[in-house]
Amino acid sequence: MSEKTVQIVDPASSAKAELPVVTGTLGDPAIDIGKLNRETGYYTFDPGFMATASTRSSVTFIDGDKGVLLYRGYPIEQLAKHSSFLEVAYLLIKGELPKPAEFSAFEHQITHHTMMHESLKNFLHGFHHDAHPMAMLCASIASLSAFYHDTLDLSDPEQRQLAAIRLIAKMPTIAAAAYRYSIGWPVRYPRNNLEYVTRFLHMMYEVPSEPLDLNPVAAKALDLLFILHADHEQNASTSTVRLVGSTGANPYACVAAGIAALWGPAHGGANEAVLKMLEEIGDAKHVGRAVERAKDKESGFRLMGFGHRVYKNFDPRATIIRDMCHKVLADLHVNDPLLDVAMELEEAALKDDYFVERKLYPNVDFYSGIIYKALKIPTDMFTVMFAIARTAGWVAHWLEQHTDADTRIGRPRQIYCGPVERDYVDRARR
Ligand code: ACO
Repeated sequence: MSEKTVQIVDPASSAKAELPVVTGTLGDPAIDIGKLNRETGYYTFDPGFMATASTRSSVTFIDGDKGVLLYRGYPIEQLAKHSSFLEVAYLLIKGELPKPAEFSAFEHQITHHTMMHESLKNFLHGFHHDAHPMAMLCASIASLSAFYHDTLDLSDPEQRQLAAIRLIAKMPTIAAAAYRYSIGWPVRYPRNNLEYVTRFLHMMYEVPSEPLDLNPVAAKALDLLFILHADHEQNASTSTVRLVGSTGANPYACVAAGIAALWGPAHGGANEAVLKMLEEIGDAKHVGRAVERAKDKESGFRLMGFGHRVYKNFDPRATIIRDMCHKVLADLHVNDPLLDVAMELEEAALKDDYFVERKLYPNVDFYSGIIYKALKIPTDMFTVMFAIARTAGWVAHWLEQHTDADTRIGRPRQIYCGPVERDYVDRARR
């Protein structure tokens, strides 16, 4: 914490508060308003937390104006080029890149926690066959606390680590099982001889009757998408995990809450919405009409995959994904007309004053759906893919929260705008 302070004065009442300035290693400083209400009688009002830092964190840094994204200090571009999702997961939760022996031990641990309890299959079978896989994932992850209630002592760092490992390990197994249930295929057990992403693709696509011929391009592409989606500091779902975590709730409940938050179309649900939008537009020649509709506030239509709360220049993940999208489609010999629609749409929007003035650029989800489609991942599984990757970030933040001396129950205030106090009127006299 710096010595600097900021003085807030209310000229009407002469009430004053000398508020400390909080600084981190990178990024803008913040004013610690903890004693503002006590000293001046005011709260702060910040719907959507546009200007509020909710915590100190050492996991991820974003500079939205410069398009910078760092996981534990490492630029996303370098991690995308040289690392793997599992190594990034280690980095996020432990704070440092693993040495070879550390990575082997971590991979072994993850691999040996991938099985889901057999009873969870019965649980999945209770869903209607056409249930959305996000609904099944959310409920199944919440149910894990019923299976592991004997290791939920949150004051024990080893039990916290175990929960983090279990979540990262089991998420792909449960996601694939939810998918297979929805299409009537038997659940495929995780194979320990495969690495994380390949194992997931096998659980998704291998049928009992024949071996799976998996193109390594698919596994590489998915691994990269997982790296890019692994964390994004205090986004809506991570903040949800932390808010629920602040009550002392168990990690499975916290992550289930994160999954629910991620599902919304303004957040992780955008990747599914982008593909539906591109399919609706259908042809590059209809792009102009879509752009006009997106500018018309009355239409209620937004360009999905455009805009971001923090990035007001470009989303560095989108730049990587855009290049990757072309490469994956070429390597897999996929000729998808939706890519033409996406490129035309991007070009039209980036030239349009409405989008330029509001600094609306393609975000991470603009191109990811086209890649998922090329990998034959069904549209309603797109947000599930995001959830698998983001689990690494969620658990990293949940672990961090549990060693942060500043953690207290999250409990925002409000500006009450309802009726003032009034007397109850008997029903017959209303
Ligand atoms: N299409 C058209 N107009 C848009 C869009 C869009 N995609 N996004 C923002 N705008 C406009 C708003 O109407 C508003 O215009 P105004 O100033 O004339 O009122 C202005 O840009 C600012 O928009 P806000 O909604 O205030 O920005 P906010 O930071 O709250 O929202 C968000 C960010 C939710 C991402 C928004 O841009 C959006 O809805 N985008 C589409 C959904 C999407 O792609 N979400 C994924 C985000 S990334 C992720 O979660 C992985």
